Amino acid sequence: MEETFLQSVRFDGERLHILDQTKLPKVTEFLEITNIEDVWDAIKQLKVRGAPAIGIAAAYGLALGIKNAPESDFDTFYDYFRDKADYLATSRPTAVNLFWALNRMDARANAERGKPVNEIKKLLVDEAHLIRQEDENVCSSIGENALSLFKDGMTILTHCNAGGIATAKYGTALAPIYLAKERGMDIKVYADETRPLLQGARLTAWELKQAGIDVTLITDSMAAMVMQQGKVQAVIVGCDRVAANGDVANKIGTYGVALLAKAHNIPFYVAAPLSTIDLETKTGEDIPIEERAAEEITAGFGKSTAPEGIKVFNPAFDVTPHHLITAIITEKGIMHGNYSEELPRLFEK
Ligand code: MRU
Repeated sequence: MEETFLQSVRFDGERLHILDQTKLPKVTEFLEITNIEDVWDAIKQLKVRGAPAIGIAAAYGLALGIKNAPESDFDTFYDYFRDKADYLATSRPTAVNLFWALNRMDARANAERGKPVNEIKKLLVDEAHLIRQEDENVCSSIGENALSLFKDGMTILTHCNAGGIATAKYGTALAPIYLAKERGMDIKVYADETRPLLQGARLTAWELKQAGIDVTLITDSMAAMVMQQGKVQAVIVGCDRVAANGDVANKIGTYGVALLAKAHNIPFYVAAPLSTIDLETKTGEDIPIEERAAEEITAGFGKSTAPEGIKVFNPAFDVTPHHLITAIITEKGIMHGNYSEELPRLFEK
């Protein structure tokens, strides 16, 4: 099982190796990045994508960005550091993991302020490694917790890609599926293709097939029929941000899937590491939703499929209201609906 996981973000001390997810599934190619601008670009262009992987890439990107920062004194260094962190924060707005990781790096820099700046730079690389390693452990725990909700022989539907390449390893929503396979359970998956960028077709279907999991690809519009015909017994998705009331932002189309699940009396689960939970954001309405270029819809993957100059609305994410979510699965356990009360408890020491 272990060998089926490609490490989508890896730092060798000099270069950041990023699996170029825009080239999948045809080509498996790693970018070798040595500067912060290319990390910004990789995040913006979705070469690295998925909330936890974005956070990990940003932490390493910041470590790269401060390589040439002045070392005379902490305050001069810190001004430079903040500049770079603020720059990375402009790459994508919705996944809170980006800001969470940059804040972790900021907190570490401040915690070490008494040390020489060249030492602090090394400690910030350590912090980025720690963020990566912790995510691996977190995904493994989410997998264990989520698997307790599934039974042998079940078929599950997922939307977008919340798999190994969207995280440090194992994924969030796909972690229980990998674990089930490891334990000899028979769990089948329907993967929504996920318009317009096809993360479901290009990434989820590819990842699961590689791991020998029984996966069937459908277009997004087929999910209703698949549910109506009783082909799936649960839905599980990842997410980019959970608001304090349990509203969840995830890939565009997720809200529709949640409504369908409700209509067909199928449980709708969200897998969310604590790094994706944002108690500062009160409700889904407060979550910034990224809008992307019209060409992703009018000329997806280079083929023109719409009239020249047509008006386009292309939000990359939508918000699923908490009342449609049967449970939110975290590394610290499963919450079943009383999110406003339960989410803050997760952060109590
Ligand atoms: O635009 P993307 O591909 O970065 O969107 C990714 C998703 O919506 C994922 O479901 C989410 O980030 C969770 S990844 C564990």
